[in-house]
Amino acid sequence: MANVVVVGAQWGDEGKGKIVDWLSERADVIARFQGGHNAGHTLVIDGEVFKLSLLPSGIVRKGKRSVIGNGVVLDPWALIDEIARLTAQGVEISPDNLMIAENTPLILPVHGELDRARENQNAVAKIGTTGRGIGPAYEDKVGRRTVRVADLADKATLELRVDRLLVHHDALRRGLGLPEVDRAALLAQLEEVAPKILPFAAPVWKVLNEDRRAGKRILFEGAQGALLDVDFGTYPFVTSSNTMAGMAATGTGLGPGAVDFVLGIVKAYTTRVGEGPFPTELDDDNGQRLGERGREFGTVTGRKRRCGWFDAVLVRQTCATSGVSGIALTKLDVLDGFDELKICTGYELDGRMLDYLPTAADQQARVTPVYETLEGWPDSTAGARSWAELPAAAVKYVRRVEELIQCPVALLSTSPERDDTILVTDPFAD
Ligand code: IMP
Repeated sequence: MANVVVVGAQWGDEGKGKIVDWLSERADVIARFQGGHNAGHTLVIDGEVFKLSLLPSGIVRKGKRSVIGNGVVLDPWALIDEIARLTAQGVEISPDNLMIAENTPLILPVHGELDRARENQNAVAKIGTTGRGIGPAYEDKVGRRTVRVADLADKATLELRVDRLLVHHDALRRGLGLPEVDRAALLAQLEEVAPKILPFAAPVWKVLNEDRRAGKRILFEGAQGALLDVDFGTYPFVTSSNTMAGMAATGTGLGPGAVDFVLGIVKAYTTRVGEGPFPTELDDDNGQRLGERGREFGTVTGRKRRCGWFDAVLVRQTCATSGVSGIALTKLDVLDGFDELKICTGYELDGRMLDYLPTAADQQARVTPVYETLEGWPDSTAGARSWAELPAAAVKYVRRVEELIQCPVALLSTSPERDDTILVTDPFAD
């Protein structure tokens, strides 16, 4: 049986929602393995719109197991709100179809406050985060002072964990001019939320290993994108988790051999939200046009996304670091009507040519893209369901992308509608 990991291969917002939904219909288990409620995507099923942030996409489909793995950072209040919102839309959510790994770290109100205080107080340290407390929560995880889901079950343990956490946070907060944490209030909040979260807690690693042995199809649903990876992304302008495919294993408790196909989601041009280097960014009419045609506004924060030409150097790199088996190319129709299109094929830095993005931040900021120009197409590609329906210049563009990134197209998405998809390779095929 095939298990599939879906990861964004750029800076997030590649259009994972539609593809993940398409795949989750055919999976038995859908697991989130990193990130938190900094993610956001919209599913349209039978005309109804579902907005998901923390819950795996499979939740809206009956008979699927949805899993939040230990690699996620979980804001219990955000989860409860999301569950309430979806329940009001008629989605059934219970411990029968949702499991949360017991070793998942929690995002507490102190994390969001710290995230926002840092972003607002110090221009030098600004990352342009979503302000959801993601970074501080991961810091506490690796700092060995976090509160995890399992800790909610025992009052004495919870108090110990909170005390350990507050030694650190109160010191930080004093430095930032924030009031110290009200310990009693935090404990009361946690005790109030515990009975709503604990019924979903489970040894996810065990359940998933059993599912795998039973031949169930597991879809690992990545959030953000590989260029936001804390190790391989445009550090420090990254998120605080590993967003690459390798994280699917450690973020759920399966071995690396559990993954049979890595599907990288790639947008036909490039966008990014927040601060940080972006070699092919366009500040001109073309950038404006990509943003308007692609409706490039963040689903979580509503921020306008920065837009630019397709950067093949970056995607070749992320396909390599995530071991991408095939890509799903999205939003090709946004390029309809351009006279010509540019693709970045390399960088120039201090008179040298580079075929990868260097690691040093100052170099990342200074590389200048080397472009290849391709002919545009006046006709619409929107809604195409076969190669034959695409203009020749659009096919040429896609083929050139494949060549440059050294990875084949498995799926081509030509509109937000589920059926407007050209399937080349089925990721779930045995
Ligand atoms: P954080 O994940 O909130 O710490 O934000 C760190 C960086 O990741 C910022 O540049 C955010 O804009 C970016 N980011 C986080 N989540 C997403 C996402 O789902 N899509 C795109 N960018 C994201």
